[in-house]
Amino acid sequence: MSQTLTMIAEEVRSCTKCRLHQGTRNGVPGEGNPEAEILFVGEGPGFHEDAQGKPFVGPAGQLLTEMLGRAELKREDVFITNIVKHRPPGNRDPLPDEMAACTEYLERQIAEIKPVLIVTLGRHSMGYFFGPAAKITQVHGTLKAWRDIAVYACFHPAAALHQPKYREALEQDFDGLPRALDAARKRAAARAGGPGVADDAASSDDTAGSSPAQMTLL
Ligand code: URA
Repeated sequence: MSQTLTMIAEEVRSCTKCRLHQGTRNGVPGEGNPEAEILFVGEGPGFHEDAQGKPFVGPAGQLLTEMLGRAELKREDVFITNIVKHRPPGNRDPLPDEMAACTEYLERQIAEIKPVLIVTLGRHSMGYFFGPAAKITQVHGTLKAWRDIAVYACFHPAAALHQPKYREALEQDFDGLPRALDAARKRAAARAGGPGVADDAASSDDTAGSSPAQMTLL
């Protein structure tokens, strides 16, 4: 972990900026490769995450690990965090003021990790990057440019655990992840003026190919 990420983690663990810390056992700053190309952003810690102080370690986390495997990724390759870093009571949805208080940490993690691709898990995380009007059922499996970074929206693994009809959509989202990463890499290289990369990789509105997953390229 970099010094900056360690400092952010310490601040999260002692954070009292909103009501969410009350009654929790641990803040959950996030963990993973500090130089990850991909940053996963979930919703907020649940029971197991609160108990262990680590993100996605319960049943939804096991499914996330399985989905990462579909995309030939390991947890150690990526960085995993959440929109809110303390567990909402009873796993309720995080409230707007709680998200607003907490996203400062996420912003600093993004600035430090500098991911090529941010992957959102679920609608709250998606809403931060795609805007409040976006609907997860419409934008999952698509890429969007957010500031300098490509963002790819996925369903939340917990949705597939609670409602089996979402399992196939979740699998398709993760099956589309390697292509999303490839597009994000090309975009990042084009923006950095890398050799041999067409500029339109950065700004194309094309719909790519025939993948069963949606994949609108930036
Ligand atoms: N669900 C989330 O959104 N985040 C976690 O860390 C665990 C479950």
